[in-house]
Amino acid sequence: MTQYVLAVDQGTTSTRAIVFDHAGTIVAVGQKEHQQIFPRAGWVEHDAKEISANTRDVVNQALAKANLDTGDLVAVGITNQRETAVVWDRKTGEPVYNAIVWQDTRTQSIVEELGALGGGADRYKAKVGLPLATYFSGPKIRWILDNVDGARERAENGDLLFGNTDTWTLWNLTGGPDGGVHATDVTNASRTMLMDLDTLSWDADIAGEMGIPLSMLPEIRSSSEQYGTGGAGVLRGVPIAGILGDQQAATFGQVCYEIGTAKNTYGTGNFMLLNTGEEKVASKNGLLTTVCYKIGDAKPVYALEGSIAITGALVQWLRDNLKIIGSASEIEALAGSVEDNGGAYFVPAFSGLYAPYWRADARGALVGLTRFVDRGHLARAVLEATAFQTREVLDAMNADSGVALKELKVDGGMVANELLMQFQADMLDVPVVRPKVAETTALGAAYAAGLAVGYWDGLDDLRKNWAEDKRWTPNLDAAERERVYRNWKKAVTKSFDWVD
Ligand code: G3P
Repeated sequence: MTQYVLAVDQGTTSTRAIVFDHAGTIVAVGQKEHQQIFPRAGWVEHDAKEISANTRDVVNQALAKANLDTGDLVAVGITNQRETAVVWDRKTGEPVYNAIVWQDTRTQSIVEELGALGGGADRYKAKVGLPLATYFSGPKIRWILDNVDGARERAENGDLLFGNTDTWTLWNLTGGPDGGVHATDVTNASRTMLMDLDTLSWDADIAGEMGIPLSMLPEIRSSSEQYGTGGAGVLRGVPIAGILGDQQAATFGQVCYEIGTAKNTYGTGNFMLLNTGEEKVASKNGLLTTVCYKIGDAKPVYALEGSIAITGALVQWLRDNLKIIGSASEIEALAGSVEDNGGAYFVPAFSGLYAPYWRADARGALVGLTRFVDRGHLARAVLEATAFQTREVLDAMNADSGVALKELKVDGGMVANELLMQFQADMLDVPVVRPKVAETTALGAAYAAGLAVGYWDGLDDLRKNWAEDKRWTPNLDAAERERVYRNWKKAVTKSFDWVD
């Protein structure tokens, strides 16, 4: 009997369930978007209950499409939008507040307060690999405990649980209030600002300073082991055996297992990860140090990460807020209707700027405008913003690692956009390579789960599944490349100092 692995990908805009076979080929996909809630400028929330209901629905959808039932699955892997914080009641399963999404900037004053205790933005960096920024989960938990009536007391009494959406999904799938497993993996834990990167355990001093009771925090486990089995409802009895944050999952799915291999995922934001092996490398150029994966009892593998908050989300914004396009895919034709950006540069600092700047005071800037600029140029500036931001991150990676990357593996929704991929290769001056299975995030989670139950034998078994689909080679005059990149850098400076 043929058997399969299912991956749940709980992303920022949607939740998906994908069934994979042993060759790593997609058998069926279930997908559902959830509501993006923007209560105020800079705030971004999700309804955690909607997400757990969607998870059940998409699993059922995928199984129905593939004509499979749970008996055909050997394991389930979970991957997720990282840093997004959910706090809920362990007895009722009710969240005490909406999930605060990674892009949300409301914790700015908390972050500043913590920095003012000494050390500024680098206060915890040596231990956790991250600068103090609104991006990470810890300050979001603190905000909920400070602002939701009675939450701090309930948390101190041990009644509340915290999780990123991997933990929320695992807890719900394994029974919720009825025996749900409260655990996370090392990659997700490394995004909270609360985990020591060497010991892979919660740091009581940092949690204490942030005012977060340790009893709320999930148990930290490896990325590939059996955490529990599906409870009542969907996936009953199926081992849940893999958890990786989505960017680490994509790195794993892209088989970046050697030191020096890297991938870049084009989703809501862009995230480039470079495998640095068992060595934890501290960045001098605005990158994050993070756990890449830990397979069972093996030693952890670390990565350097360049996180960009807004890339695909800018295309959505053009569609939803300005209504210049009707669907995201229309942007390619519109951008292709003009020869270049017409002098326009769009810096999408909607959540401040992440790597390599980490400027919370930045806000979006559209500059270089003249009466000549039309919607085509605007569409082009939107796409180019993704490529320019990626160039900045690649420059930082090359500087930190001391070796220039020779090519870049890419994946995610935007890599279907040929115009963008060509411009990306032009801007980086290295080839950009897309694999046949571009759903590397879900694939990576499936691999982690399948490895834990012996469905795949080891990393060599997985390497065989990777195949090149398309390669874009740089084709732009060096002087022109540097001219537009210089203009981009100038545009970035115009996005600074917008928060009073
Ligand atoms: O760190 C945020 C990242 O994990 C979100 O990824 O693909 O859901 O936008 P995505």
